[in-house]
Amino acid sequence: MDILKDEVNQRLIELLNPIKEGKVKEAMNYSLMAPGKRLRPLLFLTTLKAYGMDYHPYLDIACAIEMIHTYSLIHDDLPGMDNDDLRRGRPTCHKQFDEATAILAGDALLNYAMSTVLNVKMDNELKIDILTRLFDASGVNGMIYGQQQDLYFENKQANVIELQDIHKHKTGELIAVGMQLAALIAKKSDYEIWSKVGFDLGLAFQIQDDILDVTSDSKTLGKNIGSDIENNKSTYVSLLGIEESQKRVDELFKKCYENIYAMQINHGVILELITIILKRVN
Ligand code: IPE
Ligand code: IPE
Ligand code: MG
Ligand code: MG
Ligand code: MG
Repeated sequence: MDILKDEVNQRLIELLNPIKEGKVKEAMNYSLMAPGKRLRPLLFLTTLKAYGMDYHPYLDIACAIEMIHTYSLIHDDLPGMDNDDLRRGRPTCHKQFDEATAILAGDALLNYAMSTVLNVKMDNELKIDILTRLFDASGVNGMIYGQQQDLYFENKQANVIELQDIHKHKTGELIAVGMQLAALIAKKSDYEIWSKVGFDLGLAFQIQDDILDVTSDSKTLGKNIGSDIENNKSTYVSLLGIEESQKRVDELFKKCYENIYAMQINHGVILELITIILKRVN
């Protein structure tokens, strides 16, 4: 997994290179090249590997997913949203630079993700399918809708259906999208099953995040702990408590393992990554 991660990091550096020098480029570079786990690009590339495919022609699509994710984090940390000052073990983008630069760097990463995919040499019809899914996932009916609902349910407790809806969108969409894009490239008929795995994994991932917000420490996590409590967020922990939340995480991972085992792919590579996520401490 480390080799794959190094390849993504190397390619991200190359892709940022030609951008005009200035504060926005600096901020993009600062946030993107900070030590993130790169799970979303890894889920995409690893799913391609599970089909025995050469993932190299699609490395830039993996980088585009990471750019969109990083933009979402920069904006999520802004004072108007979660107002956090630590991210990936470093000061958040608006703390290191200023709010205007952080807003622009987020906008720029989203735009640059689009240009990056447009520049990939591949079948045009498939490229349009990929762009459509990627930007639906991150868009106003996807991640952005989830962020809207997350903010709406500050200071009022969401029920479990509402929480599931928040988590499915704010986090599930961008976790699921890599598996969905890999299915579009490798084997369209598996799209639905990868969607299910992706959204179960995304929900598990965000419940883990809710738990870590109260059980971890900022050094391990690389971000502010207690941020959800401070913002009076609706989370799985605030609704169900830590123990029941952990139970849900375990059940969701079990479903992911079962669904992946039922597919005719090279299970090993993808299950290795799922297990890394299951055991994550940050
Ligand atoms: C953080 O995502 C935002 C959530 C959806 C919880 P990650 O935990 O994947 O953050 P990085 O990319 O490793 O920093
Ligand atoms: C973030 O959820 C989801 C997105 C960035 C889209 P959180 O607000 O819980 O993520 P962290 O805890 O700040 O990483
Ligand atoms: Mg948030
Ligand atoms: Mg946040
Ligand atoms: Mg969180």
